Amino acid sequence: MSDQHNKEIDQITGVETTGHEWDGLKELNNPAPRWWVWVWVATVVWSVGYWVVYPAWPTAWPFFGSGSMEQTGSVTRTTTGATKGTFGWTQYEELEASQAEITARQAQYLDKFQATTSYDQISKDPELYAFAQAGGKALFKNNCAVCHGSGAEGSKGFPNLNDDDWLWGGTLADIEQTLRYGVRSGHDEARQSVMPSFGKDELLEKEEIEQVVDYVLALSSDTGADSNLPGAEIFANNCASCHGENGAGGRDFGAPNLTDAIWLYGGERADISNTVYFAHAGVMPFWEGKLDEDSIRQLTLYVHSLGGGEGEGAAVPEKVSMEVPAEVPAQAEEEPVVTDEEPVAEESSSEVSSEAATELDVDVPAEPSVEEGSNPEAVSDESADK
Ligand code: HEC
Ligand code: HEC
Repeated sequence: MSDQHNKEIDQITGVETTGHEWDGLKELNNPAPRWWVWVWVATVVWSVGYWVVYPAWPTAWPFFGSGSMEQTGSVTRTTTGATKGTFGWTQYEELEASQAEITARQAQYLDKFQATTSYDQISKDPELYAFAQAGGKALFKNNCAVCHGSGAEGSKGFPNLNDDDWLWGGTLADIEQTLRYGVRSGHDEARQSVMPSFGKDELLEKEEIEQVVDYVLALSSDTGADSNLPGAEIFANNCASCHGENGAGGRDFGAPNLTDAIWLYGGERADISNTVYFAHAGVMPFWEGKLDEDSIRQLTLYVHSLGGGEGEGAAVPEKVSMEVPAEVPAQAEEEPVVTDEEPVAEESSSEVSSEAATELDVDVPAEPSVEEGSNPEAVSDESADK
């Protein structure tokens, strides 16, 4: 390294050197342009200003205190552990603005939707129908997917809503009733019937149970009902009142069709004898009062459209796609933040739910129904206790 006064002009470039030299390599003196330096200085000054006026520095308090929540308009604000900044700016304001914009965009449809009281009329208006579908789809993901699966495909104990095999009926009115009041949900108007526990309550002998199970297996087999089986008479005397003479099911009782190959609780011999011995009483929560009227109607239309919807003469138009932001549930209009009072907590978001549904596969009315909490006694799936 050389000294100041050793500075020289580089022969090739004609640029002054800094006097620094390493193994014959000389450093040329090419300082950054003035303007660049000043811009740099300005940004430093600017950033200091930024720290002051905007939230910036983490503070120690989140580690010691417990954060607080504050409701402003439709948005829940959480106090964060950082300096607030003199402008008092927060991202929550931007969120509120974008929520308001979405709400406004939805409003034009929502007003019309609210004014159109008949499902039939909604179904005849492609735009309105598409709006209801989009809202229903988002609501389903938030509220129903945790039990029925994000594609409504169901799992053990939780019916598939895509097929035309209905426990309680697949017309718009049936679906709305199931949704509104639930099944064994503790609501006064809930659908109630419960299959007796033939084994546990000693209504049938063990041998009779085996015989009637043989008969149920025959019902759903290719050969069909076999009236010569000893179980045939047992079935007629004990089961037909709910499941029908021919075992095709009874919707007044939510009694499944036993002649198809669709099983709510499994179609293996062991599953069926388990059902007859202990019985099941699946719980579908009620939604009246938990979801607003618009949401219940949108969900009804959505579930009805999934594939198994049964007609009441309502013409269902072809699917119309429309730009309604899917991530915004229709209920966003009033309460976009899913509140804690909802029976199914925040975790019911779709990622969690698909996992939950697979887990639920193993054991029947697992947590979700208990969590619903409105009527814990109703969760009397005895087989779970076994
Ligand atoms: C806690 C779990 C759970 C949640 C959440 C849930 N369901 Fe259900 N649902 C059930 C169970 C269990 C049944 C079957 C009841 C029975 O055994 O009769 C059912 C039945 C139904 C039926 C009747 C099916 C038929 O074949 O008749 C419909 C329709 C339905 N649910 C729609 C919904 C919709 C829409 C939502 C969301 C708003 C929802 N469910 C949320 C558990 C749930
Ligand atoms: C009081 C009405 C009632 C009677 C009587 C009754 N069941 Fe049921 N059964 C039901 C209901 C309701 C369900 C559905 C339970 C649920 O959804 O949780 C059911 C479910 C079943 C299932 C499960 C079907 C599936 O898809 O997994 C089988 C099997 C069954 N019953 C067989 C019988 C047999 C056999 C008898 C007679 C020994 C009988 N049931 C008597 C109401 C009844």
